[in-house]
Amino acid sequence: MEAIRVVIHGALGKMGRQVIEAVDRETELKVVGAVEKRVTQQYLALPSTSELVPFSSDLSFILGSCRPDVVVDFTNAETAMSAVRITARRQVNLVVGTSGLSQDNLDEIAELCRDNGIAALVVPNFSLGSVLLMNFARVAAKFFSHVEIVEMHHDKKIDAPSGTAIATAKAMLEARGESFIYPRTEKEVLANARGGQMGGIAIHSLRLPGFVAGQEVIFSGAGQTLSLHHEAVNRESYMPGVVLAIKEAVKRKGLIYGLHTLLDL
Ligand SMILES: NC(=O)c1ccc[n+]([C@@H]2O[C@H](COP(=O)([O-])OP(=O)(O)OC[C@H]3O[C@@H](n4cnc5c(N)ncnc54)[C@H](OP(=O)(O)O)[C@@H]3O)[C@@H](O)[C@H]2O)c1
Repeated sequence: MEAIRVVIHGALGKMGRQVIEAVDRETELKVVGAVEKRVTQQYLALPSTSELVPFSSDLSFILGSCRPDVVVDFTNAETAMSAVRITARRQVNLVVGTSGLSQDNLDEIAELCRDNGIAALVVPNFSLGSVLLMNFARVAAKFFSHVEIVEMHHDKKIDAPSGTAIATAKAMLEARGESFIYPRTEKEVLANARGGQMGGIAIHSLRLPGFVAGQEVIFSGAGQTLSLHHEAVNRESYMPGVVLAIKEAVKRKGLIYGLHTLLDL
């Protein structure tokens, strides 16, 4: 079987570099080209063999010369949308890991997929452990009246709470069908000591340099607690999810949102 031909958009970013290494390790996948905003050389050496692949700031040129089956994007929301438009019109499948896409963006991607007969896998969180935690939390939400989330990330993260914590809270509320019980504190001695609150779920955000990304969801009923804890210690944790998405992208059609849709949960 021919290897799936992959182009990485945002190739020199933190995620892009990791994706090149991960794809390069897979026998069923092949890095055939790379795109980055500023390039100073025409070729990029692959980590395993030092084989040179075309490297450019011009995605259209790379699509034309490298003929990929899948483009993987890890850039920023605006750049990702421009890459999606260019790639879709060339009937090439997409895996988009970039965060911050709006509902309008997703609607546009769905339409581009329909018009061009391709698949676009948009995955805000590629961490298998995190997706599984969300699934387990959905199950537990039906059986416990109280829950709080502690999410922990590196100190450079710009937003709080994390998108994953909000998505977890929403998933638990949807599964439960009503708010959780939120014990009000009569006297808050320090402002915001109880964190943020969503549907009766207190959410606490830790920002420390030693963390990459993680969250703990602590359920409670009378006389017991149940904790679900997940932590990613480095970006390698996202790679099995990225590799899975690339392999699925060539088998599917249309917009596919979230890693959970690719797992038999
Ligand atoms: N789905 C997930 O599981 C997951 C996990 C981690 C991160 N992310 C998301 O993935 C995205 C990238 O994260 P990161 O940590 O890799 O960020 P990063 O290190 O800043 O990488 C982004 C790369 O894209 C490049 N870029 C920007 N504009 C471009 C353009 N017009 N054409 C080509 N390349 C361009 C950037 O170049 P410059 O530096 O020169 O601007 C940079 O090299 C973010 O949205 C992040 O939130 C998602």
